[in-house]
Amino acid sequence: MSSMKRCMHDRARGIPTLLAGALTLALALTGGPATAAQQGTAIAAQQGSLHELAVAQGKYFGSATDNPELTDAAYTAILGSEFGQITPGNSMKWDTTEPVQGQFNFAKGDVVTDFAAQHGQTVRGHTLVWHSQLPSWVGALPSAQVEAAMTRHITEEATHYRGAVTAWDVVNEPFNEDGTFRTSPFYTAMGSDYIATALRAAHAADPDAKLYLNDYNIEGLGAKSDAMYTLVTELLDEGVPLDGVGMQAHLAVQYGFPYQMQANMQRFADLGLDVAVTELDVRMALPADAAKTTTQSGYYRQVVEACLAVERCVGITVWDYTDKYSWVPSTFPGQGAANLYDENLAPKPALSAVRTALGGADDGGDDGGEGGDPGALKAQYRNSDSSVGDNQIKPGLQLVNTGTTAVGLSDVTLRYWFTAGSGAPDYRTWCDWSPIGCNTVTHRVVAMDTPKAGADHYLEVGFGSGSLAPGASTGEIQMRLNKSDWSVFDESDDYSHGSGTSYADAPRIAVYVDGEQVWGVAP
Ligand code: G3I
Repeated sequence: MSSMKRCMHDRARGIPTLLAGALTLALALTGGPATAAQQGTAIAAQQGSLHELAVAQGKYFGSATDNPELTDAAYTAILGSEFGQITPGNSMKWDTTEPVQGQFNFAKGDVVTDFAAQHGQTVRGHTLVWHSQLPSWVGALPSAQVEAAMTRHITEEATHYRGAVTAWDVVNEPFNEDGTFRTSPFYTAMGSDYIATALRAAHAADPDAKLYLNDYNIEGLGAKSDAMYTLVTELLDEGVPLDGVGMQAHLAVQYGFPYQMQANMQRFADLGLDVAVTELDVRMALPADAAKTTTQSGYYRQVVEACLAVERCVGITVWDYTDKYSWVPSTFPGQGAANLYDENLAPKPALSAVRTALGGADDGGDDGGEGGDPGALKAQYRNSDSSVGDNQIKPGLQLVNTGTTAVGLSDVTLRYWFTAGSGAPDYRTWCDWSPIGCNTVTHRVVAMDTPKAGADHYLEVGFGSGSLAPGASTGEIQMRLNKSDWSVFDESDDYSHGSGTSYADAPRIAVYVDGEQVWGVAP
């Protein structure tokens, strides 16, 4: 790093301006009333930037960005003032930096590192080796040539950015959801050894950069994070240069909060690794409403709280800070509103939640953690059964704590109502899988004394032990039931039955605490 760049990276951020002064500035610049975005900047200026709040807690706070957005002055004003770290969303990927074998182009990435240098920000390099956004020539190489091509790519890029990039996502998304290695030209040519080879090449090119493996859906305990844990344990045992694990954290309100995120982070930290939240956003099915927005704020807050609680969690990067430039709507049609600021760059409740969690003053926004019902519970459901006329009923259930205090699970039950049809009157019930462990899940079928439309029985699900932290979800509980004679059901008119295959709030599934109904509408 040049001495100038290093000086800019190290310098303290400016003293916050007073709110009144910032609003006056906004008025002076526009000649009119302050816009929502300007008011947001002004509030931030009064309280200290997100990064300043994070630094006070020993962390950084960053954002992804992308070259086309850097011409948007209102956008760059917030990017340059609120965030102490940036990650290029696309411009350091292989398809941009080496589109043709041996022809390297770092122009777009250089724009990002220059912006960072001008704003005293660090840069996370993203990414050296990834199966996606990979030019087709790599996949067309004979297997015997892939290792040399990969090593050359890493060497050229990491050397180019030496001093300007402080941490690299060396390998991105190496795992499938079940924890098996993802197939890619690299895996096909070298097996899982490509990961160690990539890390060694990156270390040789830039011994000062922190080297990470980065993936999504490894934020909570589960099969995929177990696979990452096993891999990094082996790499460390072999002396492979590795500094940290990046947890992308592309969350969604309909899927619940990752199971035991803090504990999961801590187990990586206990190996002597850094942990970083690298791509945080929390999407939802559109349109947004108050309940989804509150859940979203709670998830943002919980991620910050988990990072603050784990000393080796070095910081958090949001995958861009505004809905204006989110990747979500194009990848998940019908979903969005995932970021801290809206499409007009106005602050959202999630921003208040993050600020408050980082120790900033509460600006009065609904941050998903203040003013809510303590211990408020809700049920979410998805249909895991494509047939409404077979011999099993398969509800996927989740219990979510939207309140501000932990809830003891042993007091909680859920009810899913259905009609039995003809056949044997006795039932078998099963918990097929849950991240909380099916051994803690209790279940039975109860016949109703007074049948209702669409309901003469209900599946009751309970918990032997455990508690649900504020904002936490049990994660999915895959339930199944059948009659003892395996006769068929007609689920089409069952009271609690739905057709959605993604988790969503389910008012026709009730939640009870100590027998008192706290969520849902009984038939
Ligand atoms: O550059 C072309 C442009 O020339 C063309 O006109 C246009 C038409 O579709 O496409 C443009 O490329 C797009 C590129 O972003 C740059 O904007 C691609 O289509 C689009 O697929 C690509 O999306 C990126 C995505 O990675 C690709 O997988 C997102 O912007 C980027 O935010 C996203 O980031 C990933 C992380 O790298 C890894 N973790 C998940 C995360 C979200 O998917």
